[in-house]
Amino acid sequence: MRTCVRAVLGDVSGEVAVFGSLNADLTVRTERFPKPGETIRGEDLVILPGGKSANQAVQAGLLGARVRMIGAVGADGHGDLLIESLQRAGVDTSAVQREDVATGTAIITVDCAGDNTIVVSPGANGRVDASTAQRHQDVIGEARVLGLCMEVSPDAVEAAARIAHDAGTRVVFNNSPFHPVLSAGLLEAIDVLVVNEHELADMLKPGTSDVAAEPERERADDATDWGDCAKRLAAMGISSAVVTLGGRGSMVIEGEEITPIDPFPADVVDTTGAGDSFLGTLLAALAAGAGLKEAAGAASAVSAFATTSVGAQASYGDIAAVEQHFG
Ligand code: RIB
Repeated sequence: MRTCVRAVLGDVSGEVAVFGSLNADLTVRTERFPKPGETIRGEDLVILPGGKSANQAVQAGLLGARVRMIGAVGADGHGDLLIESLQRAGVDTSAVQREDVATGTAIITVDCAGDNTIVVSPGANGRVDASTAQRHQDVIGEARVLGLCMEVSPDAVEAAARIAHDAGTRVVFNNSPFHPVLSAGLLEAIDVLVVNEHELADMLKPGTSDVAAEPERERADDATDWGDCAKRLAAMGISSAVVTLGGRGSMVIEGEEITPIDPFPADVVDTTGAGDSFLGTLLAALAAGAGLKEAAGAASAVSAFATTSVGAQASYGDIAAVEQHFG
């Protein structure tokens, strides 16, 4: 299914809240990833604005949504970098608190194929807890859609999800970084689950608590029984989901209806933050009143654009940039 991004996002009027993480991305490009114990030479270090939640907020803001970010940074230069990037995208940062610890950082390597490895040091993100969600319950409750991921504490995520659920705000939850066990309170509050194919396989696996020990993670292929996946998600209380399949597009699950969404082929430079761009676009489109399939179609294009240059937020485009790129 091809989509016209402007038709889906052109009349964005709903409000988006994003609750979660902000990181400074310390990024080095290398020809290849080092093996354990090996030292290799990389290119110059660049420090870019990132963090899965802040990335979502910036992408939604660039697409014209009215976005409010809830989270924490340190009282340091990295914190300034992150707040400036959010504000440049039009995001309201009044609910981003400044803490007396370092801003969260991510150590990122990007290889010549554009793939990455990421290690996150939470810093100020560790100060985001359930009381943070309670303090900003007006921001969450006034939004049409709330974006959540697992880069802050599970208790904080559950608290924000419950506040949104009780207020009638739609909860879009990205199980990344992957958590094998989600609380019943969180599962009940999720309206739309977004996972990649590996995360889906891990979520549906019996006894998922030992996933970290597995060397190879499963991916979806032509043999994947999507109807069965939908049924198993429904048994967990999740009736709407988007499963991203990398360069193969995505799959939208709504009840028993399964809809494949085409990828937008792109010349990949760096995939960092492409998934967050997808999430941010979903948030903006759903807040604008789009259906989930249309939102995923737009997200396919916008996140493909995000792979064509370096960084997370630094690679994101507005509607005009995405349309111009794909013609
Ligand atoms: O998804 C990409 C993001 O993951 C990076 O921006 C990094 O900060 C980590 O949170």
